[in-house]
Amino acid sequence: MSLLDVTELRKTFGGFHAVDGVSFAVEEGSIHAVIGPNGAGKTTMFNLISGHSHPSAGAIRFAGDDVTQSSPDAMVRRGLTRAFQVTTIFPKLTVLESVECAISARRHQSASLWLWNRPTARAEALQLLETVGLAELADVQAATMSHGDQRTLEVTLALATQPKLLLLDEPTAGMSPFETKKMVELVRDLTRSRGLTVLFCEHDIGTVFTISDKVTVLHRGQIIADGAPDAVRTDQRVIDVYLGRRNS
Ligand SMILES: Nc1ncnc2c1ncn2[C@@H]1O[C@H](COP(=O)(O)OP(=O)(O)OP(=O)(O)O)[C@@H](O)[C@H]1O
Ligand SMILES: [Mg+2]
Repeated sequence: MSLLDVTELRKTFGGFHAVDGVSFAVEEGSIHAVIGPNGAGKTTMFNLISGHSHPSAGAIRFAGDDVTQSSPDAMVRRGLTRAFQVTTIFPKLTVLESVECAISARRHQSASLWLWNRPTARAEALQLLETVGLAELADVQAATMSHGDQRTLEVTLALATQPKLLLLDEPTAGMSPFETKKMVELVRDLTRSRGLTVLFCEHDIGTVFTISDKVTVLHRGQIIADGAPDAVRTDQRVIDVYLGRRNS
């Protein structure tokens, strides 16, 4: 059984099918990329999977359960978490406080309990920051960090919910080559050391083919290729609609 199974998924806006009968599976412990031109339907599909929007048709199963109509909170509790832009969530908090908050939220603690239980949340937060390489920035205000460090903090906040499956929408967008390399190493380390499964969409093709166990290609809301990176990279239709255009 796959960790995530998407079957005949469709999302229609007006008469337009942004996601148009998509079926694919994500295997436990894998790094799985979704690629495709702008407007292909990648983010719309991620919204459906994370519960931020609901499909017009089709089904989503996670860890064997039907989660097609689940809310984002319910998905996080089941172990599927999506990284969101950190500056829009905790603009004033320090890096450490942001992670403490995310840990407390996972433990369902109110603000007053957060203060009471802060030492244990702090220990876990510091350990997590150590894991992702942000420990030195613990006392820095999140909004003042570099773009690359903010994206790493987003991943850290998602990790604080202890997910089985982490969803990342363009994790290296706007990053320098050095920041991109660090993000790639982090995602790889996390899948190896924590048994995490990662589903991500990405325009940086170098990253996609370096890191992925499997690649799914979306075009106009439909899957045109789905398989091992080497097979997808040499697929003529993928070259015609996406890879070839990017190199020209
Ligand atoms: N809420 C909405 N209402 C109407 N149309 C939408 C809505 N959300 C997305 N779309 C349309 O659905 C299509 C797919 O958009 P989506 O954002 O999923 O593409 P994407 O593959 O993530 O693109 P990008 O690579 O640029 O991020 C686009 O044509 C977009 O305009
Ligand atoms: Mg998108």
